[in-house]
Amino acid sequence: MKNNIERRRFDCLVIGAGGAGLRAALQLVQADLHVAVVSKVFPTRSHTVAAQGGMNAALGNLTPDNWHWHMYDTVKGGDFLGDQDAIEYMCRAASRLVIELEHFGVPFTRLENGRIYQRPFGGQSQNYGGEQAARTCAAADRTGHAILQSLYQQNLRSRTHFFDEYFATDLLVSEEGVTQGVMVIDIESGQPLIIEAKTILLATGGSARIFRTSTNAMINTGDGMAMALRAGLPIQDMEFVQFHPTGIAGLGMLISEATRGEGGYLINKDGERFMERYAPHALDLASRDVVSRAIATEIREGRGCGENADYVLLQLHHLDPDIVKSRLPGIRGMSIRFTGIDPVDAPIPVFPTAHYTMGGIPTNRKGQVVVPLHHAPEEPQQGLYAIGECACVSVHGANRLGGNSLLDIVVFGRAAGNHIIDFLADNRFHTPLSEASIEQAMDHIQRWDKKGEGESVADITKQMRVMMEQYCGVFRTQDVLDEGVEKGRELLARLADVRLGDQSKVFNTARIEAFELENQLEVAMATLLSAAARTESRGAHSRLDFPDRDDREWMKHTLYYNRDGGVLDYKPVRTQPLTVDSFPPVERVY
Ligand code: FUM
Repeated sequence: MKNNIERRRFDCLVIGAGGAGLRAALQLVQADLHVAVVSKVFPTRSHTVAAQGGMNAALGNLTPDNWHWHMYDTVKGGDFLGDQDAIEYMCRAASRLVIELEHFGVPFTRLENGRIYQRPFGGQSQNYGGEQAARTCAAADRTGHAILQSLYQQNLRSRTHFFDEYFATDLLVSEEGVTQGVMVIDIESGQPLIIEAKTILLATGGSARIFRTSTNAMINTGDGMAMALRAGLPIQDMEFVQFHPTGIAGLGMLISEATRGEGGYLINKDGERFMERYAPHALDLASRDVVSRAIATEIREGRGCGENADYVLLQLHHLDPDIVKSRLPGIRGMSIRFTGIDPVDAPIPVFPTAHYTMGGIPTNRKGQVVVPLHHAPEEPQQGLYAIGECACVSVHGANRLGGNSLLDIVVFGRAAGNHIIDFLADNRFHTPLSEASIEQAMDHIQRWDKKGEGESVADITKQMRVMMEQYCGVFRTQDVLDEGVEKGRELLARLADVRLGDQSKVFNTARIEAFELENQLEVAMATLLSAAARTESRGAHSRLDFPDRDDREWMKHTLYYNRDGGVLDYKPVRTQPLTVDSFPPVERVY
């Protein structure tokens, strides 16, 4: 079989067609490289399309601002776990890259004076913790949609080659550890295809779909992270999962932080504006981990709304209806559609929902995947890059600030593109593919051809998502996490007995869902084991049994390897920025 597999060759292969992948591809194709993008969905259906509120940059169009204040807020928002060299790099680049997007055609909302509109978002301040800043550049509440469309059009114009609806299963890696290509499946025909490339860039997005209630598209199944694990690489800081405070209660769809940026606020069953007790200064615009915990606490203490007292309310109807209609049209439409409530008339029922994976494949700020060497600097994996939510660079530390995700994908998409261009100037030839790695990848694909009775992919997927919600949620304890690890291991063991009822090849999406389930279980185990080991509370990782941050013991990044049932290691946080003084850890209050 393996000798008959069709092969294609490119200089650079990008896996994933969200904002990160498309920004990188554009940089590469404009340098006259032969670039292909593989995407399991049509590119404009990638999850960047769902990003609502906006992209942070210290343009200072509404409030005084500068990149150093943005950097401070990001370090503090991440509870001092972020790498400060990368954070400085990102915040310094932000303003230039927003203007670049504007030139690519992104229709940002405008102020009266023609400048780009910026809204206040959580954790933003002027002057290192002072008054609220307005730093989030917005295209109404469809900013990700606008960015994704513009980047896709720019790529089409520059003739990037797209493999639409191809699913990547495994990296092809030589015995020396050089990534030489990727095995993919053409979803339409079900046939495998080998794509060789001198550089591979993973931009496959996050994995928050491992939770039942999630803002994430069904496609966010941690595919790149799991591919890295299968290739023997670690993934970093997976215990840090962001729960967005305002998902539609019971359903999980995102109600943007922009609602609170525009003046909306949260109330409990007594009509009390409860954030006054949790974040007296920033109120509803405290960082997301703080607001999510506040909502969960209100509900635990019996101040939730509704028959089951299991949600709080997000009030917007005190705002000018024209503001809601013009700046939050998507949110209004979603609320009407999924709850029957028009937010210009009545509040929306909300509850925290899994939203973002702070962890991912470890990289440096050039997007190179790095592997730690003990007592030595990290070593980049030759030719392998990762960016965006599947990567951990780590600019978000233990908790990402809203609006920093669209920024991250653009900044590091461009940076990785530039590094690849330099790398290829010195590395001009393909290396012969490792036949052993092709064989291994084919064994993986053919595993799903096994016939017979067995459990269904859908059942295990459902059980995994409920398990993650129950055992690895907003508040965590050792007993509950340990039980989660056991449950996760049971599900992983049961995977061996799962069979596909339909063995057909042509557009068999059930086959793709089987690969996605494998990936999700890998990522779920990484999340549970990393969380069970971290005996402190930091950012989004909140331990009721270890309520304090412990900088002496835990100011370090977690690395998880999937060998031997899951192995953990740690590496230091890079506290030294590029040109400015470090922000040392202090108590985080809002
Ligand atoms: O609330 C939001 O609009 C989400 C933004 C983000 O996650 O950056």
